[in-house]
Amino acid sequence: MDKLQIHGGVALEGEVRISGAKNATLPILSACLLADGPVIVSNVPHLQDVTTMIELLGRMGVSVTIDEKMRVEVDASTIRERVAPYQLVKTMRASILVLGPLLARFGEADVSLPGGCAIGARPVNIHVAGLQAMGADIHIENGYIKARANRLRGARFVLETVTVTGTENLMMAAALAEGRTELENAAREPEVVDLANFLNAMGARIQGAGSDKIVIDGVERLHGTAYEVLPDRIETGTYLVAGAITGGRIRVKHTRPDHLDAVTGKLEEAGAQVSSGDNWIEIDMRGRRPRAVDIRTAPYPAFPTDMQAQFAALNAVATGVGTIIETIFENRFMHMLEMRRMGAEIRLEGNTAIIKGVERLTAAPVMATDLRASASLILAGLVAEGRTEIERIYHIDRGYEAIEEKFQALGARIRRTPG
Ligand code: EPU
Repeated sequence: MDKLQIHGGVALEGEVRISGAKNATLPILSACLLADGPVIVSNVPHLQDVTTMIELLGRMGVSVTIDEKMRVEVDASTIRERVAPYQLVKTMRASILVLGPLLARFGEADVSLPGGCAIGARPVNIHVAGLQAMGADIHIENGYIKARANRLRGARFVLETVTVTGTENLMMAAALAEGRTELENAAREPEVVDLANFLNAMGARIQGAGSDKIVIDGVERLHGTAYEVLPDRIETGTYLVAGAITGGRIRVKHTRPDHLDAVTGKLEEAGAQVSSGDNWIEIDMRGRRPRAVDIRTAPYPAFPTDMQAQFAALNAVATGVGTIIETIFENRFMHMLEMRRMGAEIRLEGNTAIIKGVERLTAAPVMATDLRASASLILAGLVAEGRTEIERIYHIDRGYEAIEEKFQALGARIRRTPG
């Protein structure tokens, strides 16, 4: 298996172009199942999770073509099967996103239940309960969610917990249901809004996305369209932290500054100078060591759980003590244990990590355990003394496009070695 090798100690400088958002691309590709004509999706990032979603659609018989610019054309009219098999779902939980569209458009869906996950239990009970409220007949058999419906009916549904893919699944299903659906306590993430914009471009009637109440008036059919996926805010944030942790100066281009307020606020608190324009953000740390910051993860617009690990790396080399409280996932601290092996001083108490910054981390062989944990280990490697070697980097390829090329262009000494 490939590894990443990093020689720390370079203050990063330069520009980096942000790719399309993974967590918007996945629901948008699923939503193509709802259209009765071909859909063209652009700004699709070249990532393993996207490949998995395309493979999933392909196995169902959906025709998918990709050009050299990663423009993806999806035509669901050739569909043969309405099944998401265990073999694919176990490699990517976001496969659950085909449940709502399959059921709404074709009246049936057999989707493998995702199992446990490296960061928490991650049940899908809310996805199921919402579809049941819309009249679906759902039972679990042989590890599969078997869902059937004639035409779904609009319903008022209060999501018990704020769930991103749950909101997306129900919004997609409601788009073709009969009558009005009201989703209360909906997720407000920018990726939910991007999906709503995409569905509306196909002829859906959705209002309120971006607030905690989304109202969907079902339509009879959705048509093909062309759509550009929004930039990835978590990739953006990861490069900004790379600038801050190395004491460097980085400009991220082709991004959405308004989606990163919670993150840039914390970077300023850490001592960075942050400026932004229409579609760029620049961070300048002027060679200084960051100050530790306190973080509590929560649904958007609060601080994202997907940026927690990167800030743990920042705190690990900061001045002072920073506390990180993870409120979304119950087991998202694996990176802390790996960073300890690099000399980080981290105390864990339940869902709280208390991190006392040290002057220097030292390189060590470490292991990636999930996507964002991997990103944090790269960040730690960028400032560690010596050569850090990260194993199991397939996790990082799920969510960061061309990561070593992008870091190399900023001056980092990083390379991929076949293992
Ligand atoms: N939850 C339930 N029941 C459900 C659904 C969720 O109890 O039916 C709970 C979860 O266990 C968790 C909380 O609700 O404690 C929130 O989880 P959510 O459902 O919002 O997570 P998700 O939709 O599975 C998406 C992203 C994640 C990101 C989270 C939180 C996608 C494809 N994935 O997951 O992204 O961490 O929202 O923002 O959109 C990543 O990109 O690395 C990643 C893990």
